[in-house]
Amino acid sequence: METTPAFTAGQYVGDDLWVPVLDGGTRQYVDLDTAATSSASVAVNRAVQEFLPWYASVHRGAGIRSQVTSARYEEARDVLVRFVGGDPATHLALFPRNTTEALNLLAYRLGLTKSDVVVTTEVEHHANLLPWARYAQLRTVAVDERGTFDVAAVEAALDQSPRPRVLAISGGSNVTGWLPDLRAIGAAARQRGVLVVVDGAQLVPHRPVDITALGVDVIAFSGHKMYAPFGAGALIAPRALLATGEPFLVGGGAVQAV
Ligand SMILES: Cc1ncc(COP(=O)(O)O)c(C=O)c1O
Repeated sequence: METTPAFTAGQYVGDDLWVPVLDGGTRQYVDLDTAATSSASVAVNRAVQEFLPWYASVHRGAGIRSQVTSARYEEARDVLVRFVGGDPATHLALFPRNTTEALNLLAYRLGLTKSDVVVTTEVEHHANLLPWARYAQLRTVAVDERGTFDVAAVEAALDQSPRPRVLAISGGSNVTGWLPDLRAIGAAARQRGVLVVVDGAQLVPHRPVDITALGVDVIAFSGHKMYAPFGAGALIAPRALLATGEPFLVGGGAVQAV
C-alpha cells in the first residue's frame, strides 16, 4: 500500500527520498527513528547554506570572514542559553558533539573522585551513567514496575550519607517517554546543595525547557536529535562552574599564545 508521509512532507531534508525495499521496488522514505537521530530540517539546511560563504576559522584568523564566523559562534552560545531559559550573564553554552560528550566533559571538569557520590536513576541512558561512574560512586534510584519513581525516592537517595555532589537525571526517558517531575526533584536537590544535571537528550527536542523555572543547574542535549546534522551538541552550565579547572581537550584552541 502506498502511503504519503504528509505530516512532515517538505519540512525535513530527504522527505522526498525514494529508497529501495526488499520486494525489489522503491518506496518513499518514512523516518520512524527520529528519537535516535532526526533528519536535518529544511530551515537548518537553509541557514547553513546562507552562512557558508562567510564561513572561516573560529577564533583562529584575523580576516573578515573569520571575524564574522567567530562573532556568530559566540552569538550562538547566548541563543542556546536563552533557548533553554537561562541567562547568558550567568550561564554559558559549550558545543560538544552530543549529549554523551557533554556529560563526559562535565564529569571530567567537576574534578570528581571515587569518594564523591552522584545520585542517578534506573531510567537513565548509559550516556548519563558511564561518565559519572568513571570518576565517582553512583547511588541509583530504583524504578517501579511502570519504569517511574517519585520525588520521595529521589529525596531519600539525596539524604543518604555521604551527601552527594551531583544529581544526574534524565529529563525524559528514551525507553518510555516518561518525563520526571524535574521542578520538584530539582528543588529537593538544590535545597540540599546538590548540583542538578539534566540529560535533556529526549526532553529538549519535545518540550519547551526553562532551566531557571525548573531550578536546574546544567542541561545537556544533542543537535542531531533535533534537526541538525550530527556534531552540534550543547552543554549549558553556570559560568562559575566552568571558570576554573583543566580543559577537557588540550591542543588546537586551548592555548593563549604559540
Ligand atoms: C535519554 C538519552 N540520553 C542520552 C542519549 C545520548 O545521546 P547522544 O548519542 O546524542 O550522545 C540518548 C540517545 O539516544 C538518549 O536517548
